[in-house]
Amino acid sequence: MDTKLVRDFKKICSDGYALGWHERNGGNLSYRMKDCEVEEVKDLLNEDAEWREIGTEVPDLKNEYFMVTGSGKYFRNVELDFEDNVAIIRVNEDGTKYKIVYGLINGGKPTSELPTHLMNLEVLKKRDEGLRVVYHAHPANTVALTFVLPLDGEIFTREIWEMETECPIVFPKGIGVVEWMVPGGRDIAVKTCEIMKTQDVAVWYHHGIFVTGHDFDEAFGLMHTVEKAAEMLVKVMSMSDRKVNTITPEGFRKIAVDFKVDLDERYLYEKTSDRIGER
Ligand code: 13P
Ligand code: ZN
Repeated sequence: MDTKLVRDFKKICSDGYALGWHERNGGNLSYRMKDCEVEEVKDLLNEDAEWREIGTEVPDLKNEYFMVTGSGKYFRNVELDFEDNVAIIRVNEDGTKYKIVYGLINGGKPTSELPTHLMNLEVLKKRDEGLRVVYHAHPANTVALTFVLPLDGEIFTREIWEMETECPIVFPKGIGVVEWMVPGGRDIAVKTCEIMKTQDVAVWYHHGIFVTGHDFDEAFGLMHTVEKAAEMLVKVMSMSDRKVNTITPEGFRKIAVDFKVDLDERYLYEKTSDRIGER
């Protein structure tokens, strides 16, 4: 299969691998296909495949098609052998089952995080029909911060925003955080969905990040921006537990006006401490 969608899907996998975010089979990727993209490949799809349980319900995604990475598959290998590592799946009439209509030619199943991907894509579709990508990676700096920053989305967002002027412009809705949980099931999917109802970034403590975007570039760029800011925060914290200078709430409000973004005031609290991670 060689369509623009397939080429874009391969590119994000390779780019994420090159940045060290996908050790072994770490991370996964899903995309809610447009009708025209399904039409383009419809002769290659096996509609006779067996139905399998999703493990949750996504009624608003009934009959839709998704491109997803396989469970246990390495991002490194997606561009080398797409058909072995990626699947196109179709969700059934009531949103409880899926079938593999293309790919995973040597067996296997879609990512173990399929419940999170599909439930997020359902929530995101309601929020904005154009949000089609859900991308999960294991970037080291962001994950490292989950061991030293409190489990608090407001603090996490504020500390990351302060590291790069661009951050509040790229993700004005901030970052949501999920406490450490066993991955791969419905419970962590439900928690992540709560965040995706209003925000584009969810950090899973001691695990990784989920982001969404209208296309692969947007999702990748968002992941990259969060992780770059996290890298700078890790560097700062390796020098000191305090910031001597930083961007002030007033500075963020000026950015909001000039760049025409709404910044939630809950992230712009007046700090009473210069120690990183304290309010
Ligand atoms: P999968 O190989 O099943 O996609 O799992 C990788 C992962 O990152 C789980 O969170
Ligand atoms: Zn993971």
